[in-house]
Amino acid sequence: MGNYLLINFKTYKEGTGKNGFKIGKIAEKLSKKTNVNIILCVQSADIRLFSSLSLPVYSQHIDPITYGANTGWILPEAIKEAGAKGTLLNHSEHQIDYKTLSLSVKRAKETGLKTVVCIDKPGKAKKTAKLNPDFIAIEPPELIGGNISVSKAKPEIITKTINNVNSVKKIPVLIGAGIKNREDVKKGIKLGAKGVLIASGVVKASDLEKAIKNILEGFNV
Ligand code: G3P
Repeated sequence: MGNYLLINFKTYKEGTGKNGFKIGKIAEKLSKKTNVNIILCVQSADIRLFSSLSLPVYSQHIDPITYGANTGWILPEAIKEAGAKGTLLNHSEHQIDYKTLSLSVKRAKETGLKTVVCIDKPGKAKKTAKLNPDFIAIEPPELIGGNISVSKAKPEIITKTINNVNSVKKIPVLIGAGIKNREDVKKGIKLGAKGVLIASGVVKASDLEKAIKNILEGFNV
């Protein structure tokens, strides 16, 4: 199956539109020299822009709606047609209630989109695993955007999440929050994570190529 590096572009200026596409191009180039699966989580408005790249693109959110009168909502079919292969759901910055989450996972499956469901606490892992998403990502909100990684600051959160998920179903667990370098990645992978979600460590890096290369090195444990 290999490991995963998900780059979350959020709505950073550096990750929006043409700026974001530059990150995608560099990630694509580096993906040719690694076995790590790189996935780009971009804004819905930018999905089509990335269609010339070989890397899978995920939406940052979808709504559990179907075709019809739903002004301003994100239709899973539209995301799919634009070129997305999957979606993040319930990110700390876009939380949804369990019922909405459950319907969103269902709609994503119907549409053929992969799902990465984010949780902020290991205590939510079992209930989330019951929805059977493709990935579960643990991100402690207080570490998001900072320089101290979840793997260094809260390794027990990673272990607990993996154990809780596995007690329901074997679903790959990803980790995110504060991950900046190879050591952060290495630690997480050693603890059993299948991959990492990174935003600021890549999107806001002054040398994009150097930052992504450094992170990719962390997977060689
Ligand atoms: O989805 C990943 C993100 O929330 C982590 O952000 O900036 O801490 O890498 P960051």
